[in-house]
Amino acid sequence: TTVEWEAASYDMGGHDTYMHKEIHEQADAVDRVLRGRIDDRFSTVHLGGLNLDAREARRIRRVKILGCGTSYHAGMIGAQMIEQLARIPADAEPASEFRYRNAVVDPDTLYVAVSQSGETYDVLAAVQELKRKGARVLGVVNVVGSAIAREADGGIYVHAGPEVCVVSTKCFTNTTVAFALLALHLGRTRDLSVSDGKRIIEGLRKLPAQISEILQQEEEVKKLALQFAEARSMLFIGRVRGYPVAREASLKLKEISYIHAEAYPASELKHGPLALIEPALPTVAIVPDDDLLEKNRAAMEEIKARSGKILAVAHQPQEKADETIVVPKNEDELDPILMGIPLQLLAYHTALVLGRDIDKPRNLAKSVTVE
Ligand code: G6P
Repeated sequence: TTVEWEAASYDMGGHDTYMHKEIHEQADAVDRVLRGRIDDRFSTVHLGGLNLDAREARRIRRVKILGCGTSYHAGMIGAQMIEQLARIPADAEPASEFRYRNAVVDPDTLYVAVSQSGETYDVLAAVQELKRKGARVLGVVNVVGSAIAREADGGIYVHAGPEVCVVSTKCFTNTTVAFALLALHLGRTRDLSVSDGKRIIEGLRKLPAQISEILQQEEEVKKLALQFAEARSMLFIGRVRGYPVAREASLKLKEISYIHAEAYPASELKHGPLALIEPALPTVAIVPDDDLLEKNRAAMEEIKARSGKILAVAHQPQEKADETIVVPKNEDELDPILMGIPLQLLAYHTALVLGRDIDKPRNLAKSVTVE
């Protein structure tokens, strides 16, 4: 299926920036990526363009996801979903690194190229190199008919609609949902139970309303941004599911506010970053209510003990944090789709306070079609 871009969606629609508009389009965008794909009868999803039959899907021994920038972060989340739901070893790597390390190309690995534009040169070149070596490559792409979509053996369109702001928001979210669909599909072709399939489908269906709920907290996030605009540097931490969320939030902040930001697995704090903690270095902690909750609380305690300020994004107020943005709980596997959304707003309002050119940050381009 293809979705026609409506001409009207190119105007600002009453928003001051495309970024703001695109953040607020996310509930509808997620609705579109799900539309027509859920199969309740078999608790799975139909992905028409995948070009991967059940026998082939069962033969996959590994999944390797390649992308750049925000798409790479969406791929990190996707890799975890595939491991959790399909129990296939999976990981993500920047396409630019993969291309230059003469990686072993394995016939039992499914390669997945992720790109909003479908035109990023490093991703396209990686796809072409893989194809030349006989690998099977799927694309997870937003722009229909783009170079990567044409070059891939099959794939999933993320149907986010046109994204104009240089930094990606709704495409990131839709790409993570597309990965959830791929993970569910691969899972249900293999050993994921009917009841787990149902559980994930119910979770997917809740996403659009939960996104709207998060976006309603914009006024509170705006107030927090006033504090963060004074920071020279910020730390973002998370564990396992929370870590790619922390990375993407840190990227978003530095891209548009030019505040230095670094993401770290919370578990690695003691191996270095704790040395930086002081009141002037705020930390944003991703704290999902999952099996790592206590570990994340302990990490926040370490930071508090050194007078660090903490903003938590969590499913319930965190007493170790100075502030908590509470997001609605979904299934553990799907939580990363939602937890970064308030931090898009935080980056946005921080950049706004600092008077930055939000839709066109300095030195960056929407798609990098050269090496
Ligand atoms: C550029 C953009 C990023 C984007 C990356 C990958 O660096 O500034 O926002 O994430 O390219 O783009 P793609 O179109 O391949 O997702």
